Formats: sequence, C-alpha cells, structure tokens
Amino acid sequence: MSPVANTENKDRIIIFDTTLRDGEQSPGCSMNLDEKLRIARMLDEMGVDVIEAGFPIASQGDWEAVHEIAKILKHSVVCGLSRATKKDIDSAAQALKPASRRRIHTFISTSPLHMKYKLQMDPGAVLDAIAESVIHARHYTDDVEWSAEDGSRTEDDFLCKAVETAIKCGATTINIPDTVGYAVPDEYARQIMMLRERVPDIDRAVLSVHCHNDLGLAVANSLAGVMAGARQIECTINGIGERAGNAALEEVVMAMRTRADKMPFVNNIKTDMITKMSRTLATTVGFNVQPNKAIVGANAFAHESGIHQDGMLKNAATYEIMTPESVGLTKSELVLGKHSGRHALKSKITELGYELGDNAFQDFFKRFKDLADKKKTIFDDDIIALIENEVATEHDNIQFLSLSVQAGTTGPQFARLELAIEGEKKSALVEGNGPVDAIFKAIRAIVPHEDAKLQLYQVHAVTGGTDAQAEVTVRLEEDGKTVNGSGADADTLVASARAYIHALNKLITKRERAKPEHA
Ligand code: KIV
Ligand code: ZN
Repeated sequence: MSPVANTENKDRIIIFDTTLRDGEQSPGCSMNLDEKLRIARMLDEMGVDVIEAGFPIASQGDWEAVHEIAKILKHSVVCGLSRATKKDIDSAAQALKPASRRRIHTFISTSPLHMKYKLQMDPGAVLDAIAESVIHARHYTDDVEWSAEDGSRTEDDFLCKAVETAIKCGATTINIPDTVGYAVPDEYARQIMMLRERVPDIDRAVLSVHCHNDLGLAVANSLAGVMAGARQIECTINGIGERAGNAALEEVVMAMRTRADKMPFVNNIKTDMITKMSRTLATTVGFNVQPNKAIVGANAFAHESGIHQDGMLKNAATYEIMTPESVGLTKSELVLGKHSGRHALKSKITELGYELGDNAFQDFFKRFKDLADKKKTIFDDDIIALIENEVATEHDNIQFLSLSVQAGTTGPQFARLELAIEGEKKSALVEGNGPVDAIFKAIRAIVPHEDAKLQLYQVHAVTGGTDAQAEVTVRLEEDGKTVNGSGADADTLVASARAYIHALNKLITKRERAKPEHA
C-alpha cells in the first residue's frame, strides 16, 4: 500500500502538489534548480503529502531537480513522472533514489481520440503497456501511481479494464485526469462513482483527481470527485499549469476548510502558509496572480463598498467567510523607516516568515536603506517584494550593479549600465528609443543574446502612492522556451533592469541544462 494511503482515516484527503511538474510545464513558468528547491522546501513545510518534482526523462534539468529534491524533503513523498516506457521509468527511479519516500507516477492515454491519433495504439496494446509499466515501476518502489491520460473522455468499459489492470499489477494510486478541462462536475463525479462500483479491488488503491481549468471548472470538478469518493487531489499553487492551469491548491484546501459542513474531510495543509507560498511562487515564476483571484488575489479580503465596510465593522462574518489570518494574511502596516536599524529589520523579516543568511542579509539591508531613502513609509508588502527579489536573484551569475538614465522629451535617451558577470564588472553606454529600450539594449550589449525575444514587459505598483515600489515582470523567449524574471525597486527603471537581468540569468541556465533528448 502507498505510504500515504488513507486506510486509517477514510476522510483524509491526500494533497498531491504538481506545481513543479504540471505547473512548471506551462509557458513562462520554468524554474531553475535553486528556485525548485526553495519551492519544494516550502511545500514540504506547508504539509503537502506528495510533491511531484518533475518529469526526469524530459531533460537533464528535470532529472537533476527531482534528484536534488529527493534529498531534502523531510515529510513529503517525492514523485517523478514517466510515460509508460521502461526508459522513462528507469530514469525516474534513478532520479528518486536518494528519497526516503518515493513515488513513481506512470501514465498513458486511454481515450479513443488519444489512443488513435496520439499513441496510434489499439486498446489491447494500451492495456499491455499499462501492465508492463506498472509492474516495472513496482520493481523500484511499492508506491506507484498510474494515470489514465484524458481519462475523463474515456469510455467507461475501457476505463474499468485499464484501472483493473493497473491495480492488479500493483498500482497503489489511480488518477483520472481531466486532461483537457472538458468535464463538468456531475459527470466527473459519476465517473469516479462508476469506477468505485465496477472495478474489482478498487479499494486497494487511492482514487485521485487531476483537473485542468480550461472551462474554469478545475476546482469544482476536483471537489465533486472527492465527494464521489476520490481521496487524492492533484493541484498547483496559484493554479499554474498547462494552458488555463490546474486546480489551485489554495482554493481546494480553503473550500474544504470553509465548507466542512458539506465536505467533512481532513488534510494536512498548514493554511496559514498559503499567502506566503503564493507570493513566493508568483515572484519566482514572474506571474502575478489576478487581483480578484480567490484566496490569494490582492482583493480577496478587501472591502471597498460602504455597505460592506459598515457590515464588516459590525461583525466581520457579514462579508467574510474565512479570516485573512487563516491564510496567513497579516495586515500591511507601517513598520519600518529610514531610521530603522539592522535589528528591527531582522525582527521584521523573521515576523514575515523569512530567513536570510548573513551575506544575503547585508545585501538586503543595503537595499532596504536605499528604499527607505526614497520612500517615506515602508509597508510589509514592500519588504516582502524586496526579499522575494533578493532571494530569487541571490545566486545569479549576472548581477545588477548600477544604472543611470537620461530621458525626457529632448532626446536622445541613454542608459549607462554596470553589471557584474561572475564577479567581473562590465559596463555599457547605449542609446535607445526611450529609457527602457536603452536599458534593455545596454544589457544586450554587455551580454549578447540575439536569439532571445522580449515577449512581455509589465509594471505594477507594490503599494499605493507615487513613491510606491515598482515590481516589474519581463518574459524572454528563445527557441520556443520562455522564462520570466522579476525585479523590484522604488525606481521603475532600476526594477526594469533587474527584471530583465533575472530573466536573462534564467534563460542562460535553461540553455545550459537543456538536453537534446527532450521528450
Ligand atoms: O493532465 C494530465 O493528464 C497529466 C497527466 C500526465 C497526469 O498531467
Ligand atoms: Zn495535467
């Protein structure tokens, strides 16, 4: 039986996080090794039961990430994805070797459409592949998950046969993905119930849901699946994932917590880590969540209309179905300023749940002082944006040093930029069509990267006020692969330079890690 099987508590829901695999697979969301390790540590601490750390055969970078994550997890099971081939499974098994608790997740398509056009295999051959892959995976671990890709569009009779085969061969978790986000809740629930009724020995495995959000139904479908008897939910932080994304972890967890009257299930997630987890991921992948996003959007707990504010003052329950504290949202209060010293800053960092090493703290203190010189009032959100940026770029080979810009109506516009490349100072003075163009051209002059294209340049203010810090996102694309970088600073142009440099560092790492054998 799977080490996280819920035999002792039938209402325990296993939270399987695939931010580092399905999430990372989505355009612009790629992460480097340090970033993946950081996210994995946080997921582990937050109480995620299973962390799908990557798809080891897909690239050298994925293999390495699974291997390194396998070494550091304290509580979570680490999982590696593989197609239904021995080569994939062997690669996943090798990558997972250092883990004390490991899961191999193998999948193959089962819908008529996928079998005919994608796999070009007949149903009998697919059943053989299921048997062979699950048996092979069981040689390496007794925790094997099998997924029916495009499961929600698979015919009942064939799905039953496929699931029965996987269980007979030793699969301990059976996952039914709604791969293309096509299902609607009652239909998906019926499919889960149908499997529970028809498949012999179904209770020997944990049934799992994995829903994509193409119709905005990923969370609803996941919860319908659980109410129909599934006991594992596959999800991602902020709902990142292929196309419109996966079911958002924070939404499924808070829905079950808030509506425990309808969904009397338990899980292991420390919900007060949700906000920090969401912010860290957003900065890491350079994907801000929409302001009205449930649970973690900037407006999720904001009450602006007079009637609502009045109700809130009388009794918060009038308009608040869960407390901000339950998701770890503390009020952004005026905390530090120009005269705050190292000690005050250190306490604030700890209070916000961060830890910085000595060197990182020294650099951070300098950035904090620079910010305090420019900005009179410093809020928690300012500190968080700065820290996230500092941590995200700490190990980058190319570091921002200084920038001065000449701009305005009487051109030309120039940028004088200084960078450190592996510790060596390099500078450029470049003319551009406007200050941002000049800055980006200066970066290109110092570190040529002709094949990369700028896909996105986005600025948002961390707080209100004209002296607000700017948080900039830059997306670069090269050979069909995209990376996002983020930068924060009171000066929008400096934040822009930092964001571009962050993205460039990621692009270079990605290039180095990419292996021709990409699946
Ligand atoms: O969406 C999907 O079908 C998947 C499988 C590989 C589990 O991500
Ligand atoms: Zn998926």
